[in-house]
Amino acid sequence: MMIKRAEKIGVHWRQEAQALLARNWDAELLSVQNPNLAYPKYYLTSFHAYEKGNMSWEAATEVEVAARAVHAGIWPEAGAEGDAKLRESYHEIVKSKIASSPQDIVDLGCSVGLSTFALQDIYPEAKMTGVDLSPYFLAVAQYRSQQKQSELSNQKSPTWVHAAAESTGLPANAFDLVSIFLVCHELPQKATMEIFR
Ligand SMILES: C[S@@+](CC[C@H](N)C(=O)[O-])C[C@H]1O[C@@H](n2cnc3c(N)ncnc32)[C@H](O)[C@@H]1O
Repeated sequence: MMIKRAEKIGVHWRQEAQALLARNWDAELLSVQNPNLAYPKYYLTSFHAYEKGNMSWEAATEVEVAARAVHAGIWPEAGAEGDAKLRESYHEIVKSKIASSPQDIVDLGCSVGLSTFALQDIYPEAKMTGVDLSPYFLAVAQYRSQQKQSELSNQKSPTWVHAAAESTGLPANAFDLVSIFLVCHELPQKATMEIFR
């Protein structure tokens, strides 16, 4: 149903996801994965109709089309641009709350980088770090940043960190903006509280 609805509004779900799925991801996975990471129990479960939840290539290669399809419903007139509009509305709030442009930004639960790249667009000078628990999502993020790098040679690639947002291993006071977007609704309340702590 979701795929059909997506394709009706011009999101080429199957085509885009299959093109990503067909790639060899060994290099990206190797470069982002922390093989020693201990996953929180709540994360290793079926989710969003994927048997292995976020820990799968199927989920990783469908994140981008799913975001455009799901967020299309938020503003009826926006259609497939709803995702961009949703991110814009978040950035308006961020910009209204902070006076100067942040230089070091960490995006917790960055997924395949949609929120990281969107923040980078509004703060192009900032050094970006994206943290996520799914090495598959981070592999796609890494691929996307390599593609962007070749298009926009002046923009720095984000650093992708495979870790739990509750325990990133990143140094304290290292960031002047910590962003967490579209993540907490997926977490047990205890995990959200630990992340904020
Ligand atoms: C809805 S998704 C994407 C959110 C992304 N920020 C965006 O705007 O597209 C939520 C993400 O949070 C990640 N996530 C969930 N629990 C996490 C945790 N404890 N630490 C780090 N990432 C987590 C998931 O792997 C997933 O990529």
